[in-house]
Amino acid sequence: MAARTSTFLLPLLHRARPLLLGRKWHHRSPWFSSQSCSRGLSGISPALSPQLAGRSYKELYELSVKEPETFWGSVARERLAWSTAFQQVSDCDLATGRVSWFLGGKLNVSVNCLDVHAAKDPDRVALIWEKDEPGTEERVTYRELLEMTCRLANTLKSLGVQKGDRVAIYMPVSPIAVATMLACARIGAVHTVVFAGFSSEALAGRIQDAQCKVVVTCNQGVRGGRLINLKSTVDTAVKSCPTVQHVLVAQRTDHSVPMGKLDMSLEEAMSRESAECAPEPMDSEDMLFMLYTSGSTGKPKGIVHTQAGYLLYASLTHQYVFDYSPGDVFGCVADIGWITGHSYVVYGPLCNGATTVLFESTPVYPDPGRYWEMVERLRINQFYGAPTAIRLLLKYEESWVKKYDRSSLKTLGSVGEPINHEAWEWFYNVVGDKRCPLVDTWWQTETGGVCIAPRPAEKGAEILPAMAMRPFFGIQPALMGEKGQTLSGNDISGALCISKPWPGMAKTIFGDHQRFVDAYFKPYPGHYFTGDGAHRSEEGYYQITGRMDDVINISGHRLGTAEVEDALDEHPDVPETAVVGISHDVKGEVAFAFVVLKENTAENQEHVIKELRHLVATKIAKYAVPDHFLVVKRLPKTRSGKIMRRILRKIAMQQTESLGDVSTLDDPSVVTEIIQAHKQYRSRLDKE
Ligand code: PRX
Repeated sequence: MAARTSTFLLPLLHRARPLLLGRKWHHRSPWFSSQSCSRGLSGISPALSPQLAGRSYKELYELSVKEPETFWGSVARERLAWSTAFQQVSDCDLATGRVSWFLGGKLNVSVNCLDVHAAKDPDRVALIWEKDEPGTEERVTYRELLEMTCRLANTLKSLGVQKGDRVAIYMPVSPIAVATMLACARIGAVHTVVFAGFSSEALAGRIQDAQCKVVVTCNQGVRGGRLINLKSTVDTAVKSCPTVQHVLVAQRTDHSVPMGKLDMSLEEAMSRESAECAPEPMDSEDMLFMLYTSGSTGKPKGIVHTQAGYLLYASLTHQYVFDYSPGDVFGCVADIGWITGHSYVVYGPLCNGATTVLFESTPVYPDPGRYWEMVERLRINQFYGAPTAIRLLLKYEESWVKKYDRSSLKTLGSVGEPINHEAWEWFYNVVGDKRCPLVDTWWQTETGGVCIAPRPAEKGAEILPAMAMRPFFGIQPALMGEKGQTLSGNDISGALCISKPWPGMAKTIFGDHQRFVDAYFKPYPGHYFTGDGAHRSEEGYYQITGRMDDVINISGHRLGTAEVEDALDEHPDVPETAVVGISHDVKGEVAFAFVVLKENTAENQEHVIKELRHLVATKIAKYAVPDHFLVVKRLPKTRSGKIMRRILRKIAMQQTESLGDVSTLDDPSVVTEIIQAHKQYRSRLDKE
């Protein structure tokens, strides 16, 4: 593919010094030593490894779980460029939550994602930035991305950022955001990307927890034709973040923003720096990034991923789950603020030398044909998106899809939440013309990459609709019963655990290792507990049945109901709330809030609810605002004072005939009271 230079980058590139590409240092560099030489020579996206060649997927899977040291050792040696060879493949103990991979090895993630490709093929397109306005895309080559990354890395260094320091990234999907992530990786800093839809308070909470030294942002974001004032959100956030010493501001639009004493123009700072930056050799288990995600209790937790194992797992899954081949254009439309963006917009594709699409817009801007018009224009080969968008799009005429040429598509993928049959069939039949395998991929922030999906599998192997199906190499799923026992046999449901360590798994929760152990390794000793339930079919395939805890999933965004309750409870007129998730035909789930008001506020309900909506939007994000608020006098509680959310969920879902056992309630008459209030609420809604 011919590269067109990004206009966004021109000011930087004009000032670029002679290119470092093709220069001898690459070949003398320790990065191309012993373990990595075959990669340097055999090109991008090599086969699994010569040692493992010629085996069927089934045999490879068997080997990966029976002899993980052989499997992962061989794959890691083959696929990654190391500066120092690792001595030990792994040292893990799931009973205590100790997880270490590729001990003694040193590498640099940015070298693996940039230098190795730029050395071979500098003009290959690394990024296609699909900007908000269709037809205005910009392409960035591996050479350009390497230079941008080095300038950014040098900028961070000049501001005193050192190995291990945390850098917050509050930016929309863009080349400069990707370069910031890679610049951190280059100098050994730890990035924490915060989704640019989070409020200033949510951003501040994350910056404080991570003790970030620097925040990198843009003046504005552009999405669906609207401008979003990112810098002003950062301004508010950093007021309560004493650790922040600098705010770097990239210019996404022409709008000029007030610059305070912490602020600095990112482009100006980069233009003063060299386009070369020596990569920091990192231990396999040094931190690469942290990403905040919701749990069933407490504040969002900073999930920590480290260098080698994460990168290896992201790249291997990217290639084998999506059937990626060199030269393909990979289109994952996730935001970089989520793990899907980390693993399948940035690290997996770039490690494989792919051309990866950065999608800045929305599925319906300027019209519901956006995705498919983009597929035609960019000749996308793999399209990876969320069921919530598919459910939205299938409501429109099929002509929005059919009028565009989708013949470039080879694989379709779905992620983030269960995909219902209707959405799966539409995606497969209408978008893929019954021609492209559709992979429903199950995984989590904590797992680093896809764990259960229909691929890899032999060519032509069956794919069942709306089902994640098969474990990836090295993943050994286990279903657990109510008494904590491992359930054997097929056609059975239980708590989904993974009983062997794999390289992509998270290493800890930043600053709270005990919480990590308690959340993931205590519930089923010796296993990693996912928080999801699953069913194993007659054929031995896995189907995810949904969360087993108080985490809900709104349009693929993971949210703890406790977080929403905490925000609501801050209102002075609200002594108590309970939030549950109920199904929604487009968003998958939405939040339903049961609210108890102080007695004297009863006549002012509408006003309080308006304030509650605002409170959640400012404390968390707009997507977290409950769709429903029901004012009740009391909440159903057990004698020990625990709110029975199970009952509230049934009421909110109008499934009152199957409420289950209510005898443990302190006062079962509460249930009748709430059912009555809910009926009135529904009939009001029906009339509106
Ligand atoms: O409940 C599962 C659901 O999303 C949760 C993980 O959310 P997060 O860490 O934000 O990562 C999302 C992107 C990987 C899981 O515990 N989930 C994810 N993928 C699927 C899914 N549920 C059903 N089917 C899936 N394919």
